[in-house]
Amino acid sequence: QEKLKKIIQPHMDILDKFFGRHFVVADFKSFTKDIEEIYWKCKGNTAGKNASYIPQLARVNPNYWGVSVCTIDGQRFSIGDTTIPFTIQSVCKPLNYAVALEHLSPIVVHQYVGQEPSGRIFNELVLDHNKQPHNPMINSGAILICSLLQTLIRSEMNLAEKFDFMQNWFSRMAGGERFGFNNSVFLSEREAADRNYALGFYMRENKVFPERTNLRECLDFYFQMCSQDVTCENMCVIAATLANGGICPMTGEKVFSTQTVRDVLSLMHSCGMYNYSGQFAFNVGLPAKSGVGGGVLLVVPNVAGFFTWSPPLDECGNSVRGIQFCEELVKLYNFHPY
Ligand code: DON
Repeated sequence: QEKLKKIIQPHMDILDKFFGRHFVVADFKSFTKDIEEIYWKCKGNTAGKNASYIPQLARVNPNYWGVSVCTIDGQRFSIGDTTIPFTIQSVCKPLNYAVALEHLSPIVVHQYVGQEPSGRIFNELVLDHNKQPHNPMINSGAILICSLLQTLIRSEMNLAEKFDFMQNWFSRMAGGERFGFNNSVFLSEREAADRNYALGFYMRENKVFPERTNLRECLDFYFQMCSQDVTCENMCVIAATLANGGICPMTGEKVFSTQTVRDVLSLMHSCGMYNYSGQFAFNVGLPAKSGVGGGVLLVVPNVAGFFTWSPPLDECGNSVRGIQFCEELVKLYNFHPY
């Protein structure tokens, strides 16, 4: 036995890797089988309706359904419509917030925006007791973050360069994938943006923005961020970067500081799922962010990042299948932290 041990010992690393023992999800095959099962279960759920206030979103095929996962050590699995592009919409909010934190620090960012769930619909005309947006995950806070990105960070850049600057950030988070831009959603969104304009004016009246904010340019920038074309396959890598303390599992690059990741995940946990955030935190207990395009980004810290896409939404604006997927996942795996 001792002799055998001596022979095997030097090769343990390779053997461990071969048998999957070094991976965070050791039995990835059975993990993917479980995901597949949940996928098919959710596929049968045809409740909900596409977002209709942006005409281009109302036209997307409601049957699209995709799930992608990337573990923090780069094991990947996808099922369904995971390579079809759709617009990121509000899932860009935590990512824009992360970029603002990286450049300005949480102290500066939170001089302008709070950390409290609003308990109201995402585009409600409401500010908190300080006359500031409640948090960066709802429209008021996300528009404010866009104004910080435009005026306090890289103010020397022109509008095109600022867009490129953000796309480069997204690309690093996604392991080098470059996102597209959906011009028709952008135009449709801008055309239907009365509420966001109203919010912008209301915030300007209350002196929420930093000096030099050009409201029209700020809102355009916000619509541009929401109109980026993404897929489940590239978004799950972003989720995994957040799950991995800011290190992209595909490139090994440290994209975000651990402090940034902590701040972003904390607010995703409390405010990421519109006015369903409290119930989602109760049922699932994990940081997530949804968008009206039907995407849900779900982070299982230190394990994996998930991204699901299905356009029909419930009355809060969350993807029906996306929510069901997250709830089924924590029934099967004890990812709920409590
Ligand atoms: O502001 C809007 O209406 C959209 N572009 C983003 C909406 C969205 O996904 C809702 N998020 N909180």
